[in-house]
Amino acid sequence: MPSHYQEIKFTLSDNPPEGEPERQYYFIAKCREWVKHKEEELGRPLLGSVINFGCQMNAKDSEKLRGILREAGYQLLDDQSPDPEDADLVLYNTCTVRENANVRVYGRLGSLVSKKKKNPHMLIGLCGCMMQEPHVVEKIKKSYSHTSLIFGTYNLYKFPELLYTAMNSDRMIIDIWKNTDQIVEDLPAERKYSFKSGVNIMFGCNNFCSYCIVPYVRGRERSRQPEAIIKEVKELVQSGVKEIMLLGQNVNSYGKNLEQPITFARLLEMLEEIEGLERIRFMTSHPKDLSDELIAVMAKSKKICRHLHLPLQSGSSRILKEMNRRYNKEKYLELTEKIRRAMPDISLTTDIIVGFPGETEEDFLETLDVVNKVGYDTAFTFIYSRRTGTPAAAQENQVPEDIVKERFNRLLKLVQEKGRQASSRFTGTIQEVLVEEVNHSQEGYVTGRMGNNLLVHFPGCPTLVGTLVKVRLQECRGFYYIGEMI
Ligand code: SAH
Ligand code: SF4
Ligand code: F3S
Repeated sequence: MPSHYQEIKFTLSDNPPEGEPERQYYFIAKCREWVKHKEEELGRPLLGSVINFGCQMNAKDSEKLRGILREAGYQLLDDQSPDPEDADLVLYNTCTVRENANVRVYGRLGSLVSKKKKNPHMLIGLCGCMMQEPHVVEKIKKSYSHTSLIFGTYNLYKFPELLYTAMNSDRMIIDIWKNTDQIVEDLPAERKYSFKSGVNIMFGCNNFCSYCIVPYVRGRERSRQPEAIIKEVKELVQSGVKEIMLLGQNVNSYGKNLEQPITFARLLEMLEEIEGLERIRFMTSHPKDLSDELIAVMAKSKKICRHLHLPLQSGSSRILKEMNRRYNKEKYLELTEKIRRAMPDISLTTDIIVGFPGETEEDFLETLDVVNKVGYDTAFTFIYSRRTGTPAAAQENQVPEDIVKERFNRLLKLVQEKGRQASSRFTGTIQEVLVEEVNHSQEGYVTGRMGNNLLVHFPGCPTLVGTLVKVRLQECRGFYYIGEMI
């Protein structure tokens, strides 16, 4: 909660303020009145649920949406609740990066029909990346008329105002913006973990990789002011956060378009100075913009985790060119070698797409070659998904499904084999671990994360959650360790 919130007092009959975020705080207060009224009418608390389908930025947005709902008086159900959709307000924060994300949303939205029949005052909202696609909104208008509210990525901060409108209307409220250059700071947020937090440093993407929908649904790159980021991190640290994850589609180009340009490496140096902050992570790094300055800053840092997520997408220089990635196989390999020279213990992870239009067996073998050479700790592997409106979707040489599946399985096998080898290299070492949770499958154990992002399970009591401890890694079991605290 930003501290100034308590100070803003409204007479609710006043006209809403024009400035932001004051205007949204006004509508939060209006929603709270409505919720109170409904609770009296129903004789029970109102339950709210925000379900996210996408990446870490999507999850971060959900924290903001949850924060707003909590302030509006809803009792929040989390994703672990037995049925998070048994609520008076269900908000789906959608993703459209691959088709299966869309399919899941339609499936779950369809199943809400019967719930709304039982609970007629139920509000159903949809927001996020998928809503920025006009054909999606058309489909929802036509086939999912039980939806109460639709908004997109650019006007997320207007959620209180839109929610209040939906509370007072029987019609479907739709407000989609095509773009924005606005960044609204200081709205409430409800964090999932008390000891770690994501922090947006930039929004949008300018890269237009030819397969990717993100630049169309998230708009042009906009960096937050370094002062705003530092202020947020200091507040987080004060409230007990030890680890932050800086979020952006391409963090390596952070700050380039600010009035007073600043590099990502410089931002990291400034954050390093914050007392009480123990760990800094970031994602995602585009290989084309990863600078020597960043490598040098990472190598000498005490807080930046020794982990780089460096999406490869394909190992074939020909396909990389078609993807508009602006590096080739050789450049990528040189970069990973340079990183390893500066930080021999670093963990590298990646994203790979199989079956990009026109991918041949030879191209695919180049991808396997890079996986062999780099030795990733983990790789997220994806089957190419045709996204309407992207250049690659219009290409005629789409690869047949059976060939893609066969390649995908081969890649997965190699990734797992190499991942096991890479992960096990820490056996016997002592690592600093941030304890994240009580282990649910083994009694008396807790689970912590190392700087390199690997997990370790070890005997420990629940009070350790949220603290940094030293653990000896005794045994590697594939992608995690069993250890003991020292
Ligand atoms: N900005 C990040 C990636 C964001 S999307 C970057 O450039 O690295 C996360 C991952 O989804 C991408 O790295 C890519 O591997 C995958 N992806 C994006 N579009 C895809 C598509 N159309 N089909 C399959 N995978 C896709
Ligand atoms: Fe998509 Fe490429 Fe931007 Fe990543 S860098 S979000 S893959 S367009
Ligand atoms: Fe993230 Fe999916 Fe949007 S990956 S940026 S939520 S399309």
